[in-house]
Amino acid sequence: MRIEIPREAERFGSNLIHGIQKVYEMDSGLPDDNGTAGKIVKRISYDELYEIENQMAIVIPVKGEKIKLIEGVLFGIPHQCLVIIVSNSSRSPVDRFQMEKSAVENYCNFTHKNVMVVHQKDPVIAKAFAEGGYPELLSRKGLIKNGKAEGMLMAKMLAKLAGKKYIGFIDADNYFPGAVHEYVRIYSGGFAMAKSPYSMVRVSWSSKPKIVDNELFFAKWGRTSVITNRYLNELMSHYTGFEQEVIKTGNAGEHAMTLDLAMLIDYSAGYSVEPYHYMNLLEKFGGLNEPEYPEVMKKSVEIFQIESRNPHLHEQKGEEHVDDMIYAALKVIYHSQVTPESLKKKIIRELRQKKIIGPSQKPENAIYYPALSKIDLNKFKAVLKDKDYASGFK
Ligand code: GDD
Ligand code: MG
Repeated sequence: MRIEIPREAERFGSNLIHGIQKVYEMDSGLPDDNGTAGKIVKRISYDELYEIENQMAIVIPVKGEKIKLIEGVLFGIPHQCLVIIVSNSSRSPVDRFQMEKSAVENYCNFTHKNVMVVHQKDPVIAKAFAEGGYPELLSRKGLIKNGKAEGMLMAKMLAKLAGKKYIGFIDADNYFPGAVHEYVRIYSGGFAMAKSPYSMVRVSWSSKPKIVDNELFFAKWGRTSVITNRYLNELMSHYTGFEQEVIKTGNAGEHAMTLDLAMLIDYSAGYSVEPYHYMNLLEKFGGLNEPEYPEVMKKSVEIFQIESRNPHLHEQKGEEHVDDMIYAALKVIYHSQVTPESLKKKIIRELRQKKIIGPSQKPENAIYYPALSKIDLNKFKAVLKDKDYASGFK
C-alpha cells in the first residue's frame, strides 16, 4: 500500500488530528520491490499489513440487512482478520438471525474464515456485562439495549477477550465488496503509520453515488456529515484561534481504533457514537480538564482520516433518518462541557430552522456510556467460558 503522509495536522491538547490522506496504491508489493517510498509517501508492504490484520477484529453491525449484502461484506474482509457479526435482527415471526447464522456458516464451510456471530439480545453476554460491573448497557429487561453503538460496545468486549489489538467497524449494508476490502486496508495502513498505541483511523468516502435526473452523480459529502463536520471544526477553531477545516470524518461509520484506546473512551448511544468520539477525545485528552490518564497524555492520541477510492453505496433509509442523524450528532456537541455558548446558540438555531426541534425547544440530552475499562475482565470472562463463541478467547 502507498499512502501519502498527512499534509496538515491539528493538535488539541494530546490529540493529534491528521488531515485527509490519499491512498496512491492499494498494493505496493513486497518489502524489497522497486519504488521505495519518498518523503511524502509511505510505502507499507503486504507483510506489514498482514501482521496488523492478524491482530484485528472487524465488526459488522447488522439489523435486518439483506443476507446477500452481508455475504459481500464477508467476501471483502481479509482472511487473517477475526470477524464479529453483532446482529440485532428479529427472531420472530421469522427468525432472521438464524437465517444470517446459517448463511455465514455455509460461507465459512467454503472459506474457513474466522467468524463469530452473536445476537445483541444474547442473555449470557448481557449477564457478563452485569457481572463485570457494567449495567449501563442493559435495558430494564436485563438485555443489551437496542442501537448500533450498543452492538459496537458489545463487540469491543468480545474483541478484547479474543486478545485483539485493533478493532474496525464496517456496516453490513454495503453493496461493494471491493470497497469493504479497501476499508480494511485503510485501517491497517493507518495503524502502520501510527506512532501512538492510542490511535484511530476514520474513512472518508471519496464519493457516494446517487441517481440525479436519471444520471449517476458521485456526491462527495453526505447531508449529515456536512453539518457535523462544520460544527466540529468551529469548535476546534474556537480553541485554536485559527479557522480550520481539519475534521472531515465527523460521522465515519467506517472507522477503527486500537483496543487500548477503545477501552478508555466514553461512548454515546445510537448514531451519535461517531461524532461523540471527537467530542470525548477533546473532553478527555484536550488538556482542558485535569488529565484522567497522564500516560496517554504523554503519548498522545492520533486520529487518521484516510480517503477511500471505491464509491460508497449502501441502503437508502429515507429523509427522516437523515434528520435523526443530524439531531444525534448535534445533541452530543451541544451538551459537551467543552462547547462554548456561542456555538450552542448556533446549534439551537440550526435545529430550529430545520424543524428538528420546536421554536422554544432545546436539544435533549443524549445517552452516554462510561469507558469499558471499568469492567472486571475476569468476571466478564467467567460468565462466557462455556459458550461456543468463547473458544477463541485467550
Ligand atoms: N447490531 C446492531 N444493532 N446493528 C445495527 C443496529 C442495532 O440496533 N441498528 C443499525 N444497525 C446496523 C445496520 O444494519 C447497518 O449495518 C449499520 O448498523 C449502519 O446502520 P444504517 O441504518 O445503515 O446507518 P446509516 O447508513 O444511516 O449510517 C451509517 O453511516 C453514517 C455515516 O454516514 C452509520 O454507520 C452511522 O453510524 C454513520 O454515522
Ligand atoms: Mg447504511
